[in-house]
Amino acid sequence: MNSSTRLPQLFAQIAAIGYDAVHGGYRRFAYSDEDRELRTFFAQTVSELGLTLSVDTANNQWAWWGDPDLDPEHNLVLGSHLDSVPAGGAYDGPLGVLSAICAVEQLLRDGFRPRAAVGIANFIDEEGARFGVACLGSRVLTGETTSTRLEQLRDYDRRSFGEVVRATGVEPTQLRRDERALSRIGRFVELHIEQGHQLISLAAPLGLASFIWPHGRWSTTLSGVPNHAGTTPLAERDDPVIKAANFILDLTACAERHKAVATCGKIVVEPNAVNAIASKVHLWVDARAEDGDRLERLAAEIGELAHGYGGVLVNESLTPATVFDTELTGRIGSILGHLPVISTGAGHDAGILATHGIPAAMLFVRNPTGVSHSPLEDADEEDMAAGVDALIRVIQGLSG
Ligand code: GLV
Ligand code: MN
Ligand code: MN
Repeated sequence: MNSSTRLPQLFAQIAAIGYDAVHGGYRRFAYSDEDRELRTFFAQTVSELGLTLSVDTANNQWAWWGDPDLDPEHNLVLGSHLDSVPAGGAYDGPLGVLSAICAVEQLLRDGFRPRAAVGIANFIDEEGARFGVACLGSRVLTGETTSTRLEQLRDYDRRSFGEVVRATGVEPTQLRRDERALSRIGRFVELHIEQGHQLISLAAPLGLASFIWPHGRWSTTLSGVPNHAGTTPLAERDDPVIKAANFILDLTACAERHKAVATCGKIVVEPNAVNAIASKVHLWVDARAEDGDRLERLAAEIGELAHGYGGVLVNESLTPATVFDTELTGRIGSILGHLPVISTGAGHDAGILATHGIPAAMLFVRNPTGVSHSPLEDADEEDMAAGVDALIRVIQGLSG
């Protein structure tokens, strides 16, 4: 079976997991039942291929073709993540994992013998949709996020990270940097759906990543005085929802002035009653800019805005500008015939690995809608098959 039939078959196997029939798209949060099903799918699929499965001390899954400790510097790891944002698309994450499985499967069938081990990673909690910190699997793996921070995290139900993780049979206090797993990632290549329109404009099915914009997440809480919606005159209200609305308009204008982007996509209103003025509004801000100075200035101004409405802006995570390995990217470019090289505002585990000195590169597959983090995300079958073919050639070229 070639990739044009095998890849859709793999997608079909996970299609029902976390499908959100109400909003469309997928809800596949880390450490949920859906995540457990996806991890079981990964483990079974790679075992059927004869790969060796391991789980690192950050709870990421690894499937190895060959002994990863024999010549670790020359190992080549592919993969991505299987979790999603709420109402996420089908491709952000799974495309990278499933394409890697297809590529390895094809090469096994062809009798190819890699020079060093080839791995496939399934990073846990890339989206940070549950606990608020993106790329948690790679951040714990690299030691960037430590147990002190993990202990502070809470999910949407205010359940602590420790409680949620322990319920899945994993001891949260054991989650930490994994030297051995890190030493095995000689090179990392993450294939991903493009989250934008650049490849459409360039009429190219595939592209390579140059760098990731610096980005971060912040939170704040605005308070007011809860009261009756019918009996409190407008002039006498202290309504935190009005403050939140103005804060969002202000931060949007601020991002525009800085030629950056800022988004408030998550808001929790307390107590969330239709006929009551709220007591509190919790807001989460995602801000990204082309360079670090600009992001710093933007975050400082958003902090002042929050302060003006009585809130304190707290940083939840910050990722500096990430430049992918130019040598690795160049080699992939020559193997694949000089693809367009594009930057991205989206964060990825490959970026976290790159900031920790691991040679990492990314391949993007064209997305006909250009939309992502939404059920409207899309990919054409021929482009996805071209992505698998590219991974096959990358393995042959780098590990042959
Ligand atoms: C991850 O997808 C992010 O950039 O938020
Ligand atoms: Mn992703
Ligand atoms: Mn994403």
